[in-house]
Amino acid sequence: MFKDLLEGKPLQHPVHPMLVHFPIGLFLLSFILDLVSLACPDVPALLRGSFYAMLLGIVTALLAAVPGFVDYTDIRRDHPGKRTATTHMTLNLIVVAIYTINLWIRAPALAEPKVGWMPLVLSIFGIGALSASGYLGGRLVYDEGIAVGRHKRPTPRPTDTIHLSRASAEKEGDVTFVPVPEAKGLRDGETLRIEIDEQVMTIARIDDQFFAFQEFCTHRYGPLSEGSFHGFNVQCPWHNSCFDIRTGKVTNGPAKVDLKTFRVEQRDGKIYVGVPSG
Ligand code: FES
Repeated sequence: MFKDLLEGKPLQHPVHPMLVHFPIGLFLLSFILDLVSLACPDVPALLRGSFYAMLLGIVTALLAAVPGFVDYTDIRRDHPGKRTATTHMTLNLIVVAIYTINLWIRAPALAEPKVGWMPLVLSIFGIGALSASGYLGGRLVYDEGIAVGRHKRPTPRPTDTIHLSRASAEKEGDVTFVPVPEAKGLRDGETLRIEIDEQVMTIARIDDQFFAFQEFCTHRYGPLSEGSFHGFNVQCPWHNSCFDIRTGKVTNGPAKVDLKTFRVEQRDGKIYVGVPSG
């Protein structure tokens, strides 16, 4: 429940990107006030303003870090974006450390006519690290699709890809049925992400039936195992394309190409997914 709140589910919007504007704006304001204090010395309000903007920047950065960390723990362990997110988080911690030291150094010098060279150098490093971290944050959203649309899904998302082989499979003509033991543990509206010989697919349990379809959306490769379900439609978390999981047909754009679907069978209480032989 608290996690849902931090992920922005009640707001229908992720919380972390909303909060990061505050520390970015405040750290930048502090830097600008420092520069103005060089051009207009003997205006004590400038250094004090810079100090309090920095202090508020640290407080809001720590606030933004909480939902950011929740989003981080939600990234699949095998997602390539996990590494980018780790670097983003580390840089943010470095930024907070730089500004905390900066604050500590400049606190006794608030009555000085202009900013000292050490706090100024630290501010330059802080802005540099903040910019690099902001760039990575943008890449996480726009390139890797991290945290995009995740607030729409009420049920847990798969944390890993399950790798299966055809070794234990039952071949029937041109279809090989591979057992998926983990599928038995799925509850209604939940999914698995599996990979069989480089074919990545989603297994979903809807209305007590199992369905299998290609993992990546035909629009821009959004992860459908993290999508939300409306009846027998899966909605892509990235740009909301919908597909009928029984047939793979597009039911709502922007996607134009249907999904590939796979046969799922239950035999002796086990779930099997059918993939083309060979
Ligand atoms: S990637 Fe799925 S709708 Fe765009």
